[in-house]
Amino acid sequence: MKLCGSYIITGGNRLEGESYVSGSKNASLPILAATVLNNGITKLYNVPNIHDTKVMIEILRNLGCKVKRVRDKIVVDARGIKKHEIPEELMRKMRSSVILAGALIGRLKKATFSCPGGCDIGARPIDLHLKAFENLGINISKNTGYIHCTCDTIIGEKIHLDFPSVGATENAMLASVLGKGTTVISNAAMEPEIVDLQNFLNKMGAKITGAGTNEITIQGVQKLKDIGYQVMPDRIEAGTLLCAVATTGGNITLKKVNPEHLTPVLEKLKECGCKIQEEKETVILEAPKKLKAVDIKTMPYPGFPTDMQAILVSILCTAKGTSIVTENIFENRYKYTNELKRMGAKITIEGRTAIVKGVRKLTKGVVEAADLRGGAALVLASLTANGKTKVKNIEYILRGYENLDEKLNSLGAKITKEVE
Ligand code: UD1
Repeated sequence: MKLCGSYIITGGNRLEGESYVSGSKNASLPILAATVLNNGITKLYNVPNIHDTKVMIEILRNLGCKVKRVRDKIVVDARGIKKHEIPEELMRKMRSSVILAGALIGRLKKATFSCPGGCDIGARPIDLHLKAFENLGINISKNTGYIHCTCDTIIGEKIHLDFPSVGATENAMLASVLGKGTTVISNAAMEPEIVDLQNFLNKMGAKITGAGTNEITIQGVQKLKDIGYQVMPDRIEAGTLLCAVATTGGNITLKKVNPEHLTPVLEKLKECGCKIQEEKETVILEAPKKLKAVDIKTMPYPGFPTDMQAILVSILCTAKGTSIVTENIFENRYKYTNELKRMGAKITIEGRTAIVKGVRKLTKGVVEAADLRGGAALVLASLTANGKTKVKNIEYILRGYENLDEKLNSLGAKITKEVE
């Protein structure tokens, strides 16, 4: 990834006011991939303008799709798709590009791709994706770093996932939509983004039930149709904005959210001492002067999301008391804590556990983002630090947040961008 920018953040301001949440990154990516299944034109709304969606659009174009983007609206014409191979340099830019494999197999009955890239937060293998493909009768061969998938027909089958992997569940769904017979995925991931993918595919004419539970049934159909679809709000961005306000002792009316998706995060913020009111598409949060320490264990949905782990740790650094945080999904997701420690945080890592002793105040410094959520955690820590903090490598943050600096500034933060 090209590294060329920093945020300069002057800490100390109490954030307050109204903001809104953009469309979900993790729902947009599989839905963009799924447009390949339709031999026609698909319109998507509420797609965030971030690095990862730009990479996905680049890959779709490379495969032969025509893609137009106007603000949050994307039109994909997949009639002209010619290629089944995802170029290695694009695959390396983003792990989620692996999700195109299921869609390409579904449409063209073949897909070639290299091992995926993405944030460095653990081994992140794709064995569960490949096992699901094999269950569906897809032949898989590997040579010179590439994985080749081919089949004559996808035949619906039972797929049991050893772990409820989000990506493997999505890939199994995408590969089965245009297959023959019925596929049943057991121990499926239950994340809201999977429900959004089901809703999107069903609107296109697919026959899928069960998303949101641990068993998803896909009855193959022959053809899909042209539709327009509005992507769900980003629950991780919502959690990030709420935490940013909470750590400064402020208040916010956050619009365009689905409060139901935020339950595990809102419950923790309440334990921290925040007053929270949920309305239809709005969350109102009022933070205490000082947050209280809480214990957190990341789990597959509806448990506490791993993507919010770094964000919570950063705000617990200045909470009253000691918090115990356990990361159960990825094995290497505490790298950013070294940077927080450089700002005066008291964090001890023991295997999968982080012990966070709250300090009165963090101190300014120069810190480096090394992954998306860890980068956002450094931004939040800087909001309460004394003086100006430089957060380098903001490209990682721009992978997944649309205008995070502008949104925080509109609430009273003081963030400027420095291009190097
Ligand atoms: C998705 C999200 C990511 C989130 C994660 C967990 C997208 C684009 N990304 O990632 O933001 O942090 O879900 O909620 O939606 N695993 C295997 N073998 C596999 C696949 C996964 O062992 O074949 C392991 C992973 O190494 C990890 C765990 O399963 O330890 C969860 O991964 P998974 O749910 O697949 O995450 P992603 O789909 O990559």
